[in-house]
Amino acid sequence: MRGISLWSALAILTSAGGCANVERSRDLSNPNVPPAVTATQVCSNCHGVDGNSVSPNFPRLAGQNPGYLATQLENFRSHQRSDPPGFEYMWGISHHLSDDQIKGLAEYFAKQVPQVNAPVDARLMAAGKAIFENGVSDKEVAPCMACHGPQAQGIASFPRLAGQHQDYLVKQLHVFQETEGRPGTPMKQITHLLTAQEMEAVAGYLQAFPSAQ
Ligand code: HEC
Ligand code: HEC
Repeated sequence: MRGISLWSALAILTSAGGCANVERSRDLSNPNVPPAVTATQVCSNCHGVDGNSVSPNFPRLAGQNPGYLATQLENFRSHQRSDPPGFEYMWGISHHLSDDQIKGLAEYFAKQVPQVNAPVDARLMAAGKAIFENGVSDKEVAPCMACHGPQAQGIASFPRLAGQHQDYLVKQLHVFQETEGRPGTPMKQITHLLTAQEMEAVAGYLQAFPSAQ
């Protein structure tokens, strides 16, 4: 008798706990956890509660295009995106996410308001602006804004770059140029002949970009 009542008490406790926990759960493999809970309980540790991460090790997700965010999460989950910080941090995190969870997380971060950063050094700003708007004609580098939009706000599969950390942007440009960590994008060709100085300049300009949104 005693055993049974203990068992039912436990059953009630766990089911009640289960309900309450969904609102605070860090379980990435439970599709019943609402995306906003996962975002604030798990993703926030690195990307910030509102997607405006402080450390440049972690990309900002605020205001990023939902389609782009979802594709990146799918690419981490399928291991198609395999640059070292990507597999160290994001392979495990994306492993058990369902398509619906990915969609919900992408929508959550897309809705957050991106922070605007202070300008960088004026010479860097000018050099970066020229590359962003005109490309580098003698190297056949297309203007960044042709795909990423005149406000660097991104369009569909082209990510938002405005307000992103300079260090993160530079790191990704090197990934495209030197590795196969992010295959199958026009960025391989775009970065082919960019110098390290040109990358620093355009990334600095983009970090400080005065967003129209
Ligand atoms: C422990 C730290 C950490 C946590 C927690 C974390 N991330 Fe990340 N995330 C990273 C790092 C580091 C990168 C950059 C990977 C790279 O350089 O390729 C990243 C990259 C991303 C990107 C790609 C952004 C871009 O601009 O291409 C997305 C999308 C993303 N994370 C979403 C999430 C979501 C959603 C969660 C929560 C379910 C999450 N992350 C939790 C560390 C983390
Ligand atoms: C022909 C279209 C096109 C042009 C021009 C272009 N890009 Fe891209 N860019 C893309 C696409 C598509 C992606 C998404 C890549 C992926 O999904 O892996 C991307 C991704 C990026 C990323 C990664 C962002 C992130 O959050 O991880 C950076 C950085 C970037 N581009 C910088 C630039 C810069 C700087 C220029 C100009 C020198 C430029 N791009 C020009 C199409 C373009």
